[in-house]
Amino acid sequence: TAPRPLAGRRAVVTSGPTHEPIDPVRYIANRSSGKQGHAVAAALAALGAEVTLVSGPVSLVDPAGVRVVRVETAREMLQATLAALPADIAVMAAAVADWRVADAADTKLKKDGSGAPPPLGLALNPDILATVGHHAALRPALVVGFAAETGAVEIYAREKLARKGADLIVANDVSPASGVFGGDANTVHLVTAEGTETWPTLPKAEVGTRLAAWIAARLASATDL
Ligand code: PMT
Repeated sequence: TAPRPLAGRRAVVTSGPTHEPIDPVRYIANRSSGKQGHAVAAALAALGAEVTLVSGPVSLVDPAGVRVVRVETAREMLQATLAALPADIAVMAAAVADWRVADAADTKLKKDGSGAPPPLGLALNPDILATVGHHAALRPALVVGFAAETGAVEIYAREKLARKGADLIVANDVSPASGVFGGDANTVHLVTAEGTETWPTLPKAEVGTRLAAWIAARLASATDL
């Protein structure tokens, strides 16, 4: 049988986009497919972890052996993530909308006679990774974030490592030419306090497998975890 170094460990993983309603029929979203986050959840489960996958709207099959909680908005994702704590491992791979429409309409917005578009005021969404990373009572032993950048990838990732209270940031370039959003491959940089490690371009499933192994090794080597 395969080794199960994460047996007895609990993990929470976020994946996919969030949808932030404008009105009952329209929303703000992004191009995340959930492929990378779901691959991480599957790989952690394959190493024996008890995984809760908090997923935004995606059209993927649920990974085997994983408890899936489906959400739409960033605020729902935060609630579901906190409800999955305590956990030993948190991996926040979701592409969470930074902003939502401040006053989403209860009924469909209609064009008025003036031709003027409706003003869409935005409000800041909660930061799920930062909330978990700085949680006084329930911070997991290992907190992993992602960073989706279109330039200066390592610089921004290192800034997020500190600001969001993460132990590791998995940084990826999501410029359109990279094809990372929605694609099947990814090129990631692992940014920790110790340094940066760049992996070759790999299938997202393989990034998930290697990341789960990295997490298992890190937990095994930390005597106080
Ligand atoms: O889903 P795929 O099509 O497979 O694409 C994969 C991916 C590009 C979405 C994935 O690899 C990735 O990079 N996920 C993070 C996307 C993102 O929103 O990155 P960010 O740099 O904006 O956020 C940094 C970190 O904070 C992330 O861990 C994010 O989950 C988290 N965050 C951000 C904002 C917020 N309000 N709450 C958060 O938890």
